[in-house]
Amino acid sequence: MPRDDVFRADGDPFADTDTDTGDGDRGDGYIDLSGDGIESLDQIARGGDIDAGLEVGLRPSTLDDFVGQSELKGKLGVILGAARKRQHAAGHLLFAGPPGLGKTTLAHIVAGEMDAALHITSGPALERPGDLASILNQLEDGDVLFIDEIHRLSRTVEEVLYPAMEDFQLDLVLGKGPAARSIRLPVSPFTLVGATTRVGLLTGPLRDRFALEARLEYYEVDDLTSIVERAARILDVDIDDKGAHEIARRSRGTPRIANRLLRNVRDFALVERDGLIDLTVAHEGLEFFGVDDRGLDKPSRNLLLSVCEMFDGGPVGLNTLAISVSEPNETVESVYEPYLIQQGFLMRTPKGRVATVAAWEHLGLDPPITTVDDRALPGLFDD
Ligand SMILES: Nc1ncnc2c1ncn2[C@@H]1O[C@H](COP(=O)(O)OP(=O)(O)OP(=O)(O)O)[C@@H](O)[C@H]1O
Ligand SMILES: [Mg+2]
Repeated sequence: MPRDDVFRADGDPFADTDTDTGDGDRGDGYIDLSGDGIESLDQIARGGDIDAGLEVGLRPSTLDDFVGQSELKGKLGVILGAARKRQHAAGHLLFAGPPGLGKTTLAHIVAGEMDAALHITSGPALERPGDLASILNQLEDGDVLFIDEIHRLSRTVEEVLYPAMEDFQLDLVLGKGPAARSIRLPVSPFTLVGATTRVGLLTGPLRDRFALEARLEYYEVDDLTSIVERAARILDVDIDDKGAHEIARRSRGTPRIANRLLRNVRDFALVERDGLIDLTVAHEGLEFFGVDDRGLDKPSRNLLLSVCEMFDGGPVGLNTLAISVSEPNETVESVYEPYLIQQGFLMRTPKGRVATVAAWEHLGLDPPITTVDDRALPGLFDD
């Protein structure tokens, strides 16, 4: 099972990842099966992977290097350890949670820990059952197949996946009409790693076929501080404890944002100050890049401002809200809202989104006289 054509980040944070030759093979064992790279339009819209090339070197490559999420790490460690002992592919794994919390990173780690080849594709890239069938057909014993945005798989493709996950069998229908016949082909035992920002959109039968369904939670400030310090070491950035803590505190619980803010503040420190990031420089740099005291950036603040000012605090429906901030519904729902809800700024109610008193206060606005409860609960004469 051990193979040496495993994709490994080579530790160079400035490595250019955009060397796609068009056939998905970068020549280093990394196999990108989606044809157009795994970055979907959504991911670009989220602004999450603008500097994806820089992200590669910052990605932890072992479970030990992966900071935080201790419960998930514990379970994963046991599953992978047992699979290694049994010399068998690990059970299928599903990672769910908001963008930038480490789902893709974990897929790489799983392949690395199992010393297995990693094949990468995504829900939207698998348009027809044949697309998935040909990938499954290429898998070798113990390989890891990563399907990003797995909630976007079509039903017909999902149906090819079920027997492959459960019995390592591929059911194919050859030909059409009366001459059609179905054949069953074996698939090498493999581990499917699925990632999703919208676990609720997965069908029951698909969810049931995973050995582990793990939800990634927003990170604690202490964990993010370790992530900032680790990234600073890799990027050779001069930063002290308080500077790292300040960046961590304003990173919205998200490692990707922590890494991005570190690079922003590093640039600010180099150009506007003497290069060292201490508490004051971190504070000034974050202010300069429009990140407020609670870590909200411009798009998140605009969303809250829109609910408060344009819709009097809500309730406002998702469609209307998304149009008012010129973002797709999906981006509002899975990128901006989760953190605002977690921080107690926004509520999802049956009648729509409602800003809390904390949101008005954070924006420096006077909250309306009506209480949130009045606005959130259905009225006597509502239908
Ligand atoms: N636990 C962690 N420890 C250290 N760094 C991390 C951790 N989790 C994520 N990161 C960093 O954050 C970056 C983003 O993580 P990743 O790409 O895995 O997120 P994701 O959950 O796949 O996001 P998306 O839903 O947008 O695809 C990684 O490149 C890595 O540098
Ligand atoms: Mg990802």
